[in-house]
Amino acid sequence: MSIGFGIIGLGNRGYKYALHTIMKSKECHIEMVCDAHGNHFDQFPGISNTKEFTEVLENPKVDAVFIATPDDTHAEIVIQAAKHKKHILCEKPLEISREKVQEIQVALRDFEGAFEVGYVLRYARLFQKVKSYLISGAIGDLHMINVMDHIPYGGYAYFHDWHRKRETSTSLLLQKATHSLDIVNWYVDAKPREIAAFGRLSTMGKPGALKKFGKEVASDLHCRTCVISDSCEESIQNILKEKKISWSENWPDSCVFNSEIDVDDHQTVMVQYENGTQLAYQLCLFGAYYKREFHIFGSGGELRFDDVSNEITIYDRLRNETVTYKNDYAEEQMEPGDEEQLQDFILAVQTGKKPISNLESSITAALLAIDAQASIDQKKMIKSD
Ligand SMILES: NC(=O)c1ccc[n+]([C@@H]2O[C@H](COP(=O)([O-])OP(=O)(O)OC[C@H]3O[C@@H](n4cnc5c(N)ncnc54)[C@H](O)[C@@H]3O)[C@@H](O)[C@H]2O)c1
Repeated sequence: MSIGFGIIGLGNRGYKYALHTIMKSKECHIEMVCDAHGNHFDQFPGISNTKEFTEVLENPKVDAVFIATPDDTHAEIVIQAAKHKKHILCEKPLEISREKVQEIQVALRDFEGAFEVGYVLRYARLFQKVKSYLISGAIGDLHMINVMDHIPYGGYAYFHDWHRKRETSTSLLLQKATHSLDIVNWYVDAKPREIAAFGRLSTMGKPGALKKFGKEVASDLHCRTCVISDSCEESIQNILKEKKISWSENWPDSCVFNSEIDVDDHQTVMVQYENGTQLAYQLCLFGAYYKREFHIFGSGGELRFDDVSNEITIYDRLRNETVTYKNDYAEEQMEPGDEEQLQDFILAVQTGKKPISNLESSITAALLAIDAQASIDQKKMIKSD
């Protein structure tokens, strides 16, 4: 029987995942769409729509919901969806505070439906191949990991809208870095124990404005009306011209140098896991180029990979030997792993199987980023419980 989906939140992620992934699957269909601001209803002709998510939950033809609303709305919608006995595919991160994450944990304690969280990289072929190398003992026991996320579209993606305020996102460690941090949790297969982090806002927000303009910018400044948008490295117009980035015609364009911005634009996080494995992670949201790079050290060798070359290289510690694997799979969805993630969810609905990205793993991922932000704020190492 085809699974009837309700889509809640039709912003950048929601409508694209619905159109390119859910609608393309033969095992499910969309019964109803919902967006509080009526965004992208026109992309779903013939499908009933609403601005109230409770109407989706009350629809008996909706078996499962895909929740793609801003991070600080997830707990309310997840908890209501569970009460209505809907299967739940919720976007990452689970929520933006320890309290809200715990509310979800308590509410889902006896939940019998499928629950999966949008950590797509766990489903992407490159990352899965690395996991299989690690399980097979290709570099022996895993001891140390170094990860760097270079994001050249950080201003565009995260500093124009709700992502830029801690009130609605807590930090970009939770919003963006969480993908890579979750992958490390999965590879290490243990809980983070000690977390020490540093973060700073240096290039966007008020510090960026003082360097660029010598003063703060007006709170209502937008790229479309700004007198320097022709030369500004962060203007929507230049990002399109120079980097060919335009994720939607109506992309928000509030100035990325606005003083209300209070999330950091670069961070360093160090983690010691309960099994002794150590992580050094860095996120840069004003990178010059895109790359997610991993370097993993084991007792028998080293493994390096990145998602630009799409290559994995394993160096043997004893012998002068390397093994290289090239991932040639062409991803055609919004994010690598989108299709496989949906497949895992469908299987969870049909068979009761526990998804690869599940409640426990997404709680661990969220709390790691929340603890890292606490370490930055309190200037001390945090011991995770
Ligand atoms: N897994 C991934 O790779 C990935 C990629 C992008 C975004 N995301 C996640 O998807 C979620 C949405 O991100 P986005 O970039 O699409 O944000 P967005 O701001 O573009 O879209 C959010 C949409 O939700 C709607 N909305 C807000 N509150 C609502 C409510 N109570 N009920 C119904 N609709 C509501 C808004 O009107 C908006 O259209 C976030 O949690 C984000 O972290 C995940």
